[in-house]
Amino acid sequence: MKTILEVQNLCKSFEDNQVLNNINLKVEEGEFLAIMGQSGSGKSTLLYNISGMDRPESGNVFLCGKDISKLDDEKMSEVRLDHMGFVFQHSYLLKNLSIHDNIVLPGFRSGKMPREQVNQNADILMKDTGIDSVANHDIKKVSGGQLQRAAICRALINKPEVLFGDEPTGSLNSSTTKEVMDIINDVNKDGTTVIIVTHDSKVAARADRVIFLMDGNIHAELKIGKYEDYEEKRPLREKSLNQWLEKQGF
Ligand SMILES: Nc1ncnc2c1ncn2[C@@H]1O[C@H](COP(=O)(O)OP(=O)(O)OP(=O)(O)O)[C@@H](O)[C@H]1O
Ligand SMILES: [Mg+2]
Repeated sequence: MKTILEVQNLCKSFEDNQVLNNINLKVEEGEFLAIMGQSGSGKSTLLYNISGMDRPESGNVFLCGKDISKLDDEKMSEVRLDHMGFVFQHSYLLKNLSIHDNIVLPGFRSGKMPREQVNQNADILMKDTGIDSVANHDIKKVSGGQLQRAAICRALINKPEVLFGDEPTGSLNSSTTKEVMDIINDVNKDGTTVIIVTHDSKVAARADRVIFLMDGNIHAELKIGKYEDYEEKRPLREKSLNQWLEKQGF
């Protein structure tokens, strides 16, 4: 197994609040990792610091063996645009653009692929996620679930190595959460590494591994294994995760 992301001795504080205290973490290529922990435990901070959205105070972050923790802002944006995708609790799509135009925008900005190929990728992604029928809709005229699927398409347009999510289902109801997570599991099955923060054990039970943050460190780790025959194994996965979470005081 190849390590795609390696975090070494990562520390981060905000003034005198030490939020991350010597985090060490390795993520394998193709892995699906869920990050859990109480509110304020530093989940988002960890995600932002390993994805170059924020800078560690000390420590290193390696993406595909390359130290990205000290890149200048311009290089870091390039790495993020070409190699990482992001999905947040809210879709943050641009209001004056259609669903399709929002999705292709990072593709055009990257310049990694010809525009024709970006458009083709967008068509495939929209079809795969079931939003092709609303491609030309105004973003104010589609549902929350459709918006979040569009946000996933936008995150995947440049075929990133890693898809990061911070509570990607945080504002969705349970049936839409299931639809969006089915898509994320499919993306992972196709080889994209997935790292998401969630407080929802039903979401985390779909990951291969869950880490639990506490007191600025990885307090515990649970290996669940690859998501396969999920519907059949779902109750068992959720049960063992919930038992483990209870042990962590969650
Ligand atoms: N930009 C910032 N400036 C100052 N303090 C911050 C900043 N971002 C986060 N913090 C603090 O760092 C700690 C961890 O915040 P973080 O957002 O990472 O928690 P979280 O685990 O994601 O919580 P939640 O589940 O509520 O989203 C909190 O005490 C928070 O107040
Ligand atoms: Mg958070």
